[in-house]
Amino acid sequence: MKPLTVLGIETSCDETAAAVLRLDEAGPHVLSDIVLGQAAHHAPYKGVVPEIAARAHVEGLDGAVAAAMRDAGVSYAELDGVAATAGPGLIGGVMVGLMAGKAIALAHDKPLLAVNHLEGHALSPRLAEGGATFPYLLLLVSGGHCQFIAVLDVGVYRRLGSTLDDALGEAFDKLAKLLDLGFPGGPLVEKAAKTGDPKRFALPRPLLGREGCDFSFAGLKTACAREVERLGQLSAQDKADLCASFQAAVCDIVADRTRNAMRQFDGFWGARGRLVAAGGVAANQTIRSLLEALGEDRGYDFIAPPLRWCTDNAAMIALAGAERLRLGFSDDLSFPARARWPLDDEAARLRPSHKPGRKGAKA
Ligand code: KG4
Ligand code: ZN
Repeated sequence: MKPLTVLGIETSCDETAAAVLRLDEAGPHVLSDIVLGQAAHHAPYKGVVPEIAARAHVEGLDGAVAAAMRDAGVSYAELDGVAATAGPGLIGGVMVGLMAGKAIALAHDKPLLAVNHLEGHALSPRLAEGGATFPYLLLLVSGGHCQFIAVLDVGVYRRLGSTLDDALGEAFDKLAKLLDLGFPGGPLVEKAAKTGDPKRFALPRPLLGREGCDFSFAGLKTACAREVERLGQLSAQDKADLCASFQAAVCDIVADRTRNAMRQFDGFWGARGRLVAAGGVAANQTIRSLLEALGEDRGYDFIAPPLRWCTDNAAMIALAGAERLRLGFSDDLSFPARARWPLDDEAARLRPSHKPGRKGAKA
């Protein structure tokens, strides 16, 4: 195959990111990888403010793209395509990145790849050397998403289960906000949990023991809020104990749901073998270790991207774009920004005729 060099742009939430990636026979090579975080912009509000995020993308994106091109040592003429996140995400930010991608593609007469952000996360475990090979069972856990996806090939995704209410990252962020730990919340809850007692608070584990692999975190979040209210003034130890108890409940839920998802995955596709985690919450070491142990129990290898590719980045967007380009796809400059865009739609968009073999399918 001819090596493909692609510029990727990511602006769907609160990271302004640009990267250049080359895809060849040996796999993907990340030539540059720029991520400008916006935590300082959002910290005073203890959460991402969409309007502030969009403005910060406008301010930062040109510089991020220039830095990515400079670091990669690649000229615009040498690019084979320009990939930009077209959704799902905060619509103002998505529009900023997609418009920039379209402008660069148009100005340099290159194909545009309008990438589904979730496809970027789904393929991100393939960024590392010796990364995941298809098919694999993906647990995608980020601030906006929480789902199990059977990743069968580029563009061939089947959702096995998802959250009925909050995403897991959102639950971490809400607890951090409740405890006034700071922003972004996930890593701070994980840090506080290290010195806490996971047994102090008996928190609920919604859907535990039920069939399927959907998630629910609303009840857990409400129970945490009730404990905070009951305690009134919270000491540092109270906060640590609540974080540890919360994380223990999350681990029980994730373990139960992952066991069911693996059973479903190898039942449907006879493709036992690889369990992959992606998305910001996959940076959590306790959850990573848990998934590794769960995989081992059932004969699955556990693979997670290096930490910098777990959270939002443009290397994964460039990879998804390059893979699509390799298959002969590109998108029209009229492609719209989408606030909502389920990953399953990718399969219909990319491979209308592809039907996975349902080995041993039960239902
Ligand atoms: O994938 P990501 O960067 O953005 C989205 O697409 O949402 O994920 C961000 C989410 C946030 O909710 C953040 O709190 C969470 O991932 N997160 C973590 C950790 N690091 C990031 N949650 C738990 N433990 C962590 N170490
Ligand atoms: Zn993300």
